[in-house]
Amino acid sequence: MGEGDWRLSEMANGMERSRILSIAASVRAMIAEGKQVAPFTVGDFSPDQFEVPNQLLTGISEAIAQKETNYPPAAGLPELRESLAAWMHYAYDLDVGSDGIIVGSGARPVLYASFRLFLEPGDGLAHGVPAWNNHYYVHLNDSVDIPIAGTPESRFLPTAIGIKERIKEIRVLILNSPLNPTGTCYTKGELKAICDVIMEENHQRKEQGEKPVILVYDQVYSTMTAEHIEHVHPVQVCPEIFDYTITLDAISKSLTGTGLRLGWMALPPSLAPPVIALIGHMGAWPARPIQKAAAKLYSKPEILENYFMELDERISKRMSILQDRLGQLSDYGVSYVQPEGGIYLTTRFDLFTQLDVSTNEEIRQWLLEEAGVAIVPFQAFGLEEETGWFRISVGAVSVEDIADAMNRLESALMIAFGHARNA
Ligand SMILES: Cc1ncc(COP(=O)(O)O)c(C=O)c1O
Repeated sequence: MGEGDWRLSEMANGMERSRILSIAASVRAMIAEGKQVAPFTVGDFSPDQFEVPNQLLTGISEAIAQKETNYPPAAGLPELRESLAAWMHYAYDLDVGSDGIIVGSGARPVLYASFRLFLEPGDGLAHGVPAWNNHYYVHLNDSVDIPIAGTPESRFLPTAIGIKERIKEIRVLILNSPLNPTGTCYTKGELKAICDVIMEENHQRKEQGEKPVILVYDQVYSTMTAEHIEHVHPVQVCPEIFDYTITLDAISKSLTGTGLRLGWMALPPSLAPPVIALIGHMGAWPARPIQKAAAKLYSKPEILENYFMELDERISKRMSILQDRLGQLSDYGVSYVQPEGGIYLTTRFDLFTQLDVSTNEEIRQWLLEEAGVAIVPFQAFGLEEETGWFRISVGAVSVEDIADAMNRLESALMIAFGHARNA
């Protein structure tokens, strides 16, 4: 008998708590004590800083007033599946039709369902490192973990070369672009090279009668891109990958409605029936009022596009000040990777010598205590090397919060590096 409670299953005993949420809870406690801390930790939005579209709120109230309170169909309301299918076609050239759209209460249930669809215990689940939460899903599915490390040179995205090295062991490959935690996005060329590796392998497996590699493409931040960056969907660079691709999306990030719980999966329609049954058994469908409201909103791409444009501007203001200020701290061991999408910026605090420490965790605590800067080390995203890389999230901070935090950071670094602030 290993560690844990003897009454629980091995799966339950092996279940880890989210490290990000643990850090966020300690930050909340510090703020409640009155400490000055900028919460750059969670991938959530402060509703005071980022509002969901008004049309969505009105739609929810109207649906409640119209007593839309009973069970929705397990796959989603037909009008919602129609409008999401039209949106996916319009925005990403992905044509699964309404039968290929299945909604869930956020991206998580459809993410879980997509793994359950394909993985037997012991099958290989490949994912990038760093990446959000994939290692928890490896555990839940009793899969073999295939981490594919990104590097600063690849903007921390897994590359075609890295994937090719492990392709024979892979049953499901999950990719995420824009990537949480790094805020970087695949280019057309990079994604095409990966699709080519998958398709070459799948042609061979078909001849040998083996199950194919499935690509799960998590694009929950797809509408959030920096200027001059274009989000790319796999079918746009490799149409034949359609049959092997499951796309995940949600309003959690794109409409900043993390608490409204609506996500969806787009997949070849012939694969839909078991997913519908699974979502039904889990009871993981979104509430009827949000389905009604989203069905209306997603049938109006022009409203959505305006909303996305404004949102990008707000994110970009926050990213600009971060880049300016972090850029000025390069003499103090600070650097960052150019943000391309999502609400994240990858930054490095190479303070090991200066602070006489050896772990990212020690640097994280120093930043929190000395500068009131709360960030998440890449260890929380599976990257174990102690190299000083962190995620900054801008969803819960104002431009002023960032400016204040950067002032505190600069002062703390100057003291640590032995300078007086105005010397
Ligand atoms: C890459 C990625 N996928 C999926 C999710 C889950 O989204 P949801 O809140 O809709 O379950 C998140 C949430 O942080 C995410 O960052």
